[in-house]
Amino acid sequence: MSARSMVTLIERKKRGEAQTLDELEWICRGFLAGEIPDYQVAAWLMAVRWRGMTEVETFALTHALVASGESFEWSEDRPVVDKHSTGGVGDKTSIALVPLLAAAGVTFVKMSGRGLGHTGGTIDKLESIPGFQVDLEPARLREQVAAIGCALVGQSPEMVPADGALYALRDVTATIDSLPLIASSVMSKKLAGGARAIVLDVKHGSGAFMADEEEAEALARVMVAIGVGAGRRVRAVLSPMSEPLGRAVGHALEVREAIDVLRGSGPPDLVELTLDLGAHLMVLSRCTPSLEDARIALHRLLASGVGADKLEQLISAQGGDARIVAEPDRLPTAPVVRVVESPESGWSEGFDARAVAGVLLDLGGGRRTKADRIDHRVGIRILVRRGERVEAGQPVAEVHATGSEAWGGASAAILEALGISSEPLEIVPAARRVIGE
Ligand code: URA
Repeated sequence: MSARSMVTLIERKKRGEAQTLDELEWICRGFLAGEIPDYQVAAWLMAVRWRGMTEVETFALTHALVASGESFEWSEDRPVVDKHSTGGVGDKTSIALVPLLAAAGVTFVKMSGRGLGHTGGTIDKLESIPGFQVDLEPARLREQVAAIGCALVGQSPEMVPADGALYALRDVTATIDSLPLIASSVMSKKLAGGARAIVLDVKHGSGAFMADEEEAEALARVMVAIGVGAGRRVRAVLSPMSEPLGRAVGHALEVREAIDVLRGSGPPDLVELTLDLGAHLMVLSRCTPSLEDARIALHRLLASGVGADKLEQLISAQGGDARIVAEPDRLPTAPVVRVVESPESGWSEGFDARAVAGVLLDLGGGRRTKADRIDHRVGIRILVRRGERVEAGQPVAEVHATGSEAWGGASAAILEALGISSEPLEIVPAARRVIGE
């Protein structure tokens, strides 16, 4: 097929026609080889965004993405697990969960992504650790997993490279919030990583790509079906994402907070989600018979600090400065750190996750174009949660900025992200529904 054929494929997708595995593989190969230019792939992505894909097409795209690189197979006597979130704000769960489960004896091979749209990416967060390498060659990854039982890596020229390339383009072309594109992107990484048991954290709410729960459920069902079709045990947990998860939003700040979780002092919502996803993984990989047993085991591990030791091993193995675990002040810090005070009294309705993500982007902690570089130092720490009483003049957030001007703009915007009610709020703990095995 020639460059002209790509026009035909865009045209056909624009009319809503389904594409074959052959055609989808051709697009992935041509894009990676530089034979199909960015602008044509961007147009095709936008056509997919509006016209969607059939379930068969979504399966085919997943397989085309997997086929663009190497896939891993692990021995059956060492069950490998994996987890993925569909994207949230302040979601640093993987950075705590991978070492925690590895410390429990569960082999965890996690292939993560970079920031996408308004959501942060684990790979970008890990790069705030001096020296940390996110691209491991397959042979090195195998050695590391054999030695320490875990790895946290990104797409690379060897591993699902087509997802890496499409992902970077979707990030800056408003083509992220598409069920088939999200499902195939997430599941290609999970299938290529070779895990037999996979837990998917499917977010809904203002900070998620799927704002309502029904859409999130539809996404979860397709991803579970792709995984089961490939012979994996898969479970999806639907979790709300209206407020940022935990208190920190911003790369180095989030790594610090993940360390807090492993040291037993993480914020309750983040600890809860980490333990919940971990318990599902332990049950799904048949390491424990029940969620209750798994939770007890994980609580004990958190209290013992072995998860923090495993994080040190993981960072060292991937070339990073492991001293940041015991001494988080070694992480990059912003030159201007000041609190923002509430102009009024009342009860916090919480910070809107999407708006907080916008503040991070303005501070320099996100990308507007593929070439943008992320500033790992900047971010926001949230000091009041939904339902808490707030007095006028009380610090409600801390903004970490590159200078006073940036701090001024961000502090005004962060106050706009916070709702204050004149009445106390009734807080109902968020229920998480489970889909799949
Ligand atoms: N995470 C991914 O890996 N891909 C998406 O498209 C969304 C979240």
